[in-house]
Amino acid sequence: DVYATGMLADQPPEYPVRYERLREAALEAMSDEAAAYVGGGAGGERTMDANRRSFADWRLLPRLLRDVSERDLHVDLLGRTLDVPFALAPVGIQTIVHEEGELATARAAHETDVPMCLSSVASQPMEAVAEELGETPKWFQLYWSSEPAIMESFVGRAEDAGFDAVVLTVDVPILGWRERDIERGYLPMLAGEGMANYFSDPAFRALLDVDPEENPELATQRFLDVFGNPALDWTDLEDLCAMTDLPVVVKGLLHPDDAERAVECGVDAVAVSNHGGRQVDTAVGALEALPGIVEQVMGRVPVTVDGGVRRGADVVTALALGADAVMVGRPYVYGLALGGQSGVEAVLENLRADLDLTLANVGRPSVAEVDESLVVRADRL
Ligand code: FNR
Repeated sequence: DVYATGMLADQPPEYPVRYERLREAALEAMSDEAAAYVGGGAGGERTMDANRRSFADWRLLPRLLRDVSERDLHVDLLGRTLDVPFALAPVGIQTIVHEEGELATARAAHETDVPMCLSSVASQPMEAVAEELGETPKWFQLYWSSEPAIMESFVGRAEDAGFDAVVLTVDVPILGWRERDIERGYLPMLAGEGMANYFSDPAFRALLDVDPEENPELATQRFLDVFGNPALDWTDLEDLCAMTDLPVVVKGLLHPDDAERAVECGVDAVAVSNHGGRQVDTAVGALEALPGIVEQVMGRVPVTVDGGVRRGADVVTALALGADAVMVGRPYVYGLALGGQSGVEAVLENLRADLDLTLANVGRPSVAEVDESLVVRADRL
């Protein structure tokens, strides 16, 4: 279908198909502040690079003559059947790249049947985003506020709004050293963009003397005081698992011992991630951390990975190394920057088509048939 459409069209595709061109065009189209925020990472960006580079450590070893005429990309995860083994990673403050922000992303996710994880620091309230998503699988990413009432309120709202899981991000005890953001002298949140969930929250509003609508600067200052919680420890994770009936995913683990601890706390899935290289410069690449965690977890809970996934072959490599699903961050944000909903749709449709063709060409017509025999380390060839 992809090729037939391409050959019959008298116009090239509306959005760049190659990730490198998509990224370049989107960064160009954004404000300098947004480009620094989205495109950048922590410190010298060595972990951001490692996320990409580590995919090149592996090669796929295709098998042939295996009847791949029918393909099936679905996976079962967190109580839902996902149409594809990839989801939209939580990315905050999306109105800084497109005025419709998370609402456009949610419409695209719904249209393409790709699960979406919504950030705590979204530019639109979670209830509005959930409505756009409809029946599409949806997860709510939680930053655990230093004010317990806000955290509890967020979890309750996510349950009421019909989210399927809570994804607790634990790799931001405090914000990383992000040089591009510091040089711009600008934290996008200061412009009031990423606080829709907070400004609309009764527990947050109860902390303020004046409504955020009346004095957004003051409310923003309060938000910065309470949004994170560097005092969190494993007992808090246990409490969260006990507090909600929703599945709990812990996002941002890199060490197998932390994964063990998380499973003991009762989490329903582990998300291997280094936050897209935005927290610790020179931390291990996400794909490098994956095999150790998969080995430790031994199938007791599903494992996802995100960081540097750009193409179908990347998805296949991560699945072959034991991930149950992957998440994708920057690529869809670049699509959003270039064309709102239709830009995100193009990115997601291309990734699905690429994955579908790649699975056929490596002789694994379904995701269920992908296993470690499909990959070899490039340095062992
Ligand atoms: C993020 N990420 C992120 N993660 C999270 O748990 N909550 C958040 O609010 C954000 N915000 C955010 C903003 C931006 C601009 C980026 C690029 C990333 C991290 C995200 O969920 C994911 O871990 C990475 O983006 C995955 O890496 P790639 O696909 O961007 O390489």
